[in-house]
Amino acid sequence: MNETYFVTGALGCIGAWVVKQLVERGDRPVVFDLGGDPRRIRDVLGADGLARVQFVNGDITDLDVTKRAVAACKPKAIVHLAGLQVPFCRQDPPLGARVNVLGTIHVFEAALAAGVPRVVYASSAAVFGPSEDDGTAVTEATVCAPVTHYGVYKQANEGTARIYWLEKKLSSVGLRPLTVYGVGRDQGLTSGPTSAMKAAVLGRAFHIGFSGPTDFHHVADTAAAFVACADGGPQGAHLFNLHGDTVDVAEVARAIEAECPAVRGKITVGGPRIPIPPQLDGSAIHAAYPHLPHTPLAAGIRATIARFRELHAANALDVRDLPAS
Ligand SMILES: NC(=O)c1ccc[n+]([C@@H]2O[C@H](COP(=O)([O-])OP(=O)(O)OC[C@H]3O[C@@H](n4cnc5c(N)ncnc54)[C@H](O)[C@@H]3O)[C@@H](O)[C@H]2O)c1
Repeated sequence: MNETYFVTGALGCIGAWVVKQLVERGDRPVVFDLGGDPRRIRDVLGADGLARVQFVNGDITDLDVTKRAVAACKPKAIVHLAGLQVPFCRQDPPLGARVNVLGTIHVFEAALAAGVPRVVYASSAAVFGPSEDDGTAVTEATVCAPVTHYGVYKQANEGTARIYWLEKKLSSVGLRPLTVYGVGRDQGLTSGPTSAMKAAVLGRAFHIGFSGPTDFHHVADTAAAFVACADGGPQGAHLFNLHGDTVDVAEVARAIEAECPAVRGKITVGGPRIPIPPQLDGSAIHAAYPHLPHTPLAAGIRATIARFRELHAANALDVRDLPAS
């Protein structure tokens, strides 16, 4: 393939897997992030693959820096993942707006200035408000009524993308995951289940701080959706929900304990429900991109635990997301 893709926020969880998939098929990801630690990419790709990744330190809140970085590599597409998650936006709403809203406008401006034809960006299921627990899946047509700053910012970005299409004919796809899990997921409102898998590998107790059902999407599948949408698709400003498996988090805790019997009874669950409908209808993206993978939850949990075991055996398991034992 040998194409260049500009990936913002690629030092994060989903970004690391996007980078892995691009490198493994022979493409060139350019990682644009605040800088710092490439540990998530190393954890999913391995040290050898890391050498094939180009890193550019930069901040999407700086328009000139973002424009220069995109122009310098003339990518086939931009995958825009840089952002602050729910707790960080709650802590500092002005910063959240600068990064998530203004930063996204900068990414679209940079694409336009450099003649990049497609932007695929991370929206979120947080654009939806809490729903009645009646088992219905929300579709792309469901009314958005977010109850967090983060959700409001993501909704604004969907509007931004629509306007860049209407006014400038810049094509985009916004993807709405809910609870992404897998190696690298170590921060954010719904990171608890993945941290619990890590704790279980170490034989440690862990409390997941939310309850009820949610829509679990394995990060390899999330990344595959971003990559497929970056590769092509219809012109316009498109939006797709991502659906994996809607399961109660207590069931996930039991599945983790079944994989790691040493922690039986030690993975506990409690706390409020996530204020987002627990089931997304993912049929629209599968109709537009029929070959997207779906990793069943049980297989995703097994694969995540297996990789954590490997990292632990190599003395390379990052445990900063776990409480002190
Ligand atoms: N993880 C999920 O379950 C989930 C669900 C829905 C939507 N999303 C969205 O997907 C995207 C990626 O999620 P993730 O889980 O990989 O997040 P993450 O928190 O692991 O990574 C975000 C990355 O963005 C970078 N970043 C933050 N501010 C930046 C800035 N100003 N300039 C450049 N880089 C910056 C961070 O350094 C980090 O590497 C985010 O936009 C997130 O809101 C994630």
